[in-house]
Amino acid sequence: MQKTQNFINDNKDKFLNELLDLLKIPSVSADPAYAGDVRKTAEFVAKSLNDAGADKVEIFETKGHPIVYGEKMVDPSLPTVLVYGHYDVQPPDPVELWDSPPFEPVIKKTELHPEGAIFARGACDDKGQMFTHVKAFEAMHKSGELACNVKFMIEGEEEVGSDNLGLFCEEKKDMLSCDVVLISDTSIIANNTPSISVGLRGLSYVEVEVVGPNKDLHSGVYGGAVANPINILSKMIASMTDENNHITIPGFYDKVEDLSDAEREAMNKAPFSLDAYKKALNVDAVHGEKGYTTLERASIRPTLDVNGIWGGYIGEGAKTVLPSKAFAKISMRLVPNQTSDEITEIFKNHFQSIAPDSVKVEVRPHHGGEPVVIPTDTPEYQAAAKAMVDTFGKEPIPQRGGGSIPIVALFENVLNVKTVMMGFGLDSDDIHSPNEHYGLFNYYKGIETIPHFYKHYADLKK
Ligand code: BES
Ligand code: MN
Ligand code: MN
Repeated sequence: MQKTQNFINDNKDKFLNELLDLLKIPSVSADPAYAGDVRKTAEFVAKSLNDAGADKVEIFETKGHPIVYGEKMVDPSLPTVLVYGHYDVQPPDPVELWDSPPFEPVIKKTELHPEGAIFARGACDDKGQMFTHVKAFEAMHKSGELACNVKFMIEGEEEVGSDNLGLFCEEKKDMLSCDVVLISDTSIIANNTPSISVGLRGLSYVEVEVVGPNKDLHSGVYGGAVANPINILSKMIASMTDENNHITIPGFYDKVEDLSDAEREAMNKAPFSLDAYKKALNVDAVHGEKGYTTLERASIRPTLDVNGIWGGYIGEGAKTVLPSKAFAKISMRLVPNQTSDEITEIFKNHFQSIAPDSVKVEVRPHHGGEPVVIPTDTPEYQAAAKAMVDTFGKEPIPQRGGGSIPIVALFENVLNVKTVMMGFGLDSDDIHSPNEHYGLFNYYKGIETIPHFYKHYADLKK
């Protein structure tokens, strides 16, 4: 693979400049105002695949944002890798907290990225990581060293729940047939501590509305005598966790898989500094479910979090008002064997049952996703581990992550293949936060590692 490596070394600047151009297009999938930019980004990705040498490049329409496809079938006797990634990004808000504009990428050094990092929305999640695969493919293909067939499926709706991708996978099952799905949309423990993600949490996301009186009222004339929906909503939310930060919704934990002591011990051996964790977040103490470590709380345990809450008067100064309505967006991260629909239903029933007669409540489900756990005793995982040994010089640590990628559970069910989640970002790269960034080390290390995966996977499948 010397030619591939040389190609990468000779094209470092080109690879970087192309990524910077990709990061300049604001592909915010959640906000309809950006729909044109989302499409432009799909076109950019399609062109990149063409330029890299892919065949059958096509932009597939969906009910939402388009899906980009491309492939290179070099030899039917070789295994086929399906690369999945997303070109959409989270909204950049609050924009005023960014040190530089979110869609004008700049390179700056940080403590964890002494070689420099690219600051831009999507730099790590997932444009930077997705593009790693396009560039690795370009290097392998143009060097004549592509060791597997490859297919790309890059979507534009991951950050809004991948609602249209499931149907697409069902409809295009034959086109997408493959031996393994390869994704870089998760993280490694540190730049000198490689890891491979072997789990994702599922998600149930709901919006709740609590309605009191039929209009906003004078809080002196009516206050104390009529239910205040914000007060009520706050109490309802507070009641859903107890003093041990355990979720109180009946049935919520019924299907939660308990790990053995040995499994828990093994996962807590992963390098982790609670002090560094607290320092990075500027908190004096962590918070979470009693009886579990921070690593466990953020991966193998389910959660309930308010993501946003609003209602009443929030303008300048004071307005004495008893609001008519209160709202909240609530997410529950799920673990095996909870299912999104079931937990949404359990939540809905519980939320309605704890509402006092003085208010009416409504629960509106948003998107969901199922949890996944990936075995390590497979050629797929082993090829990824060997690839990381080659390029990091260290055995990667298998680690379950706390985030969600809704489509992954479906790959197993619809395409009948294993997924490899070989991410190259860091948890501290501020994905979804202001000042998101992606290390140059990580970008290039990804481009370098992926060809090793192809080679080991082809060898292991012989
Ligand atoms: N790439 C993340 C998921 C992730 C990040 C997994 C870090 C593991 C480690 C993905 O883009 C994401 O943000 N997913 C959403 C899913 C949701 C919008 C349906 C999430 O987890 O909130
Ligand atoms: Mn992502
Ligand atoms: Mn994301």
